[in-house]
Amino acid sequence: MPNVANCHPHISFDGKLSIIHNGIIENYRELKRELIEQGVSFKSDTDTEVVAHLLAKSYHGDLLQAMHAVLKRLHGAYALAVCHQEQPDRIVATRMGSPLVIGIGEGENFIASDVPALLKYTRQIVFLEEGGLAQVTREKVELFDADLKPMPFNAVTTNLTLDAAEKEGYEHFMLKEIHEQPHAIAETLRGRVDGEHVDLSELNLDADVLRGVKRIAVLACGTSLYSGMVGKYLLERFTRIPTETWSASEFRYADPVIEPDMLVIAVSQSGETADTLEALRIVKQQGAKAIAICNVMGSSIPRACDATLYTRAGPEIGVASTKAYTTQLVAFVMLAVGLGRMLGRTDEPTEHKLVDGLKQLPAQVQALLDEDIVAVKRCAKRYKDVFNFMYIGRHFNYPTAMEGALKLKEISYIHAEGYAGGEMKHGPLALVEGSFPTIAVAPQGRTREKLISNVQEIKARKGVVVMVSTHGDEEARELADYLIEIPACEEELSPVLAVVPLQLLAYYTATQLGRDVDKPRNLAKSVTVE
Ligand code: F6R
Repeated sequence: MPNVANCHPHISFDGKLSIIHNGIIENYRELKRELIEQGVSFKSDTDTEVVAHLLAKSYHGDLLQAMHAVLKRLHGAYALAVCHQEQPDRIVATRMGSPLVIGIGEGENFIASDVPALLKYTRQIVFLEEGGLAQVTREKVELFDADLKPMPFNAVTTNLTLDAAEKEGYEHFMLKEIHEQPHAIAETLRGRVDGEHVDLSELNLDADVLRGVKRIAVLACGTSLYSGMVGKYLLERFTRIPTETWSASEFRYADPVIEPDMLVIAVSQSGETADTLEALRIVKQQGAKAIAICNVMGSSIPRACDATLYTRAGPEIGVASTKAYTTQLVAFVMLAVGLGRMLGRTDEPTEHKLVDGLKQLPAQVQALLDEDIVAVKRCAKRYKDVFNFMYIGRHFNYPTAMEGALKLKEISYIHAEGYAGGEMKHGPLALVEGSFPTIAVAPQGRTREKLISNVQEIKARKGVVVMVSTHGDEEARELADYLIEIPACEEELSPVLAVVPLQLLAYYTATQLGRDVDKPRNLAKSVTVE
C-alpha cells in the first residue's frame, strides 16, 4: 500500500543501515516471522524492510560480507542498494532478476535502475550481471561474482543522449515520443534496407540452422505482445513456418512444449521485463535458439539471446509505449522478409515491394502527424466522458485494435476492448446501442471489406463509428461518423500507420481528462517483477 511508512529507503532496527530495493522478496513473510520472534519490530508493510534487518544482524564491520551472507536467504527478484553509517563513503549493490546499472563518472560514481536516469551525469555504463555484487565509492567501482571473487569489467559508452531523454518543448514525453516516430523508424531501418534487399547480416544467422526450424514462438508482454501478434502474421506469411505468439507470463506457467528445432523471438522495449526474461530462460535451458527484438542496448533480454535486432528507437520515457511499438513492427517486417528470403520462400519482387514500402514509412508517418488530425481531437473531446470504447480490426490490424484499446485504457482510465471484427457477432455486438463508440481499423487490404460489413452492422444498431481508413476510401467516408485517413501502403505495413492516430486519440482523451499521461496510476515503465 502506498504510504510514507512504506517508502524507501528502509532503515534497520539499529538505525544504522538504509536500503532501497526494486523487486519482490518472495519469502519475506517467513523471514519477517523469524525476525519478529527474535524481537525485531517492523515499521512498514514492505518486503524490503526484512532485508534491512537481516543485513543489520549479519553486519560485523564489512557491508559487502553482510550482503553476501544475506543473499543466501532471499528468494525472488531484487536490485538492492545499501549504505551503513559506519562506512558512509560506500554503497553496496546487488541484483537478481531486476535491473541495476552503474554509471562511471569523474570523481563520482552512480547506481540506477536504468540508463536514462544516469545520462545527466555520465554515459559510461557498467551492467551488473545477475547475482553479482558491486561496491561503489566516489573514487572506485569494484564488482564481485556471487562467491565474492573480484570480477574484471569494462564500461560501455551508451548511445543514448540526454537531449533524447528530455521533453524538448513537448508537454509530455508521450507526445514527444509519438512525434519522434518518423526518426525512430528511419533509425530502425538504417543500414538494413539500403538497397532493394533486407540486410540481416548483423544477426549472423546460419542458413542451415534456419532451415531446421520447425516452429517459431514469439514471447512478449503488453504492447510488445501486440507487436508480436503482428509478427506472427508476418513470419507465417513470409517464412511459412508455423508461428505462435505467447504472453510471456502465460508461457512460463503453461508447461509449454519446447523443442531444440524451435526458434524463439523475445520482444521487449526495456529488455528487462521479468516475465519475458523468465520465459526466455525456460526455452534457453531446453536448447532452443533465441533472437531478441529490443530497444535498450546491453539490457538483460538481448544478453540472454543468441542475436538481437535492436530497434534503435531512443529512450522511451512515457509509460505508454509508442515509438517502441512502431519500431518493433518495422523490425518484424524486416525479420520476416529477411528470413523468408534466406529460406527461399519470399520472392524478389515481394521483397522489393516491401523494402520500398518500408523506406516510405518515415515520410508517411510524418505526413500523418503533420495533418494535425482534426477528427482525432474532435473525437477525443466528444467521447472523453464515456465509460466504454470498442476497437475492432482484422488480421494485421486486429493487434492494432488491441494496442489502441490498451493505449486508451492505460492513460485515460476509460475501459476499452480490442476485438477481432469477426468476433463481434459472437458476443460484443450486444453492447452496441445509440452512441456506443467503436473504433474500426479498416485500411486497404484483404480484410477491409469484411470490416466494412462489421461497421455496417454497428451502424444499423445506431452505434457511433470512428474509422481509420486509407486515403480516398469513399465507402468509409460515407459510413464513418469520424474519419481518420492514413496514407496508402502495403497491407503488411498498415499497422505502423494505423496505430499512430490511435496513440493520439488516447493522448488527447487523457489530457482532456487531466490525467498524468506520462505516469499513469499503478503502472511502471519497466515491469521488472512478476
Ligand atoms: C504499454 C506498455 C507495456 C509494455 C510491457 C512490456 O504501453 O508500455 O504494456 O509494453 O510492460 O514492456 P517491454 O516492452 O519493456 O518488455
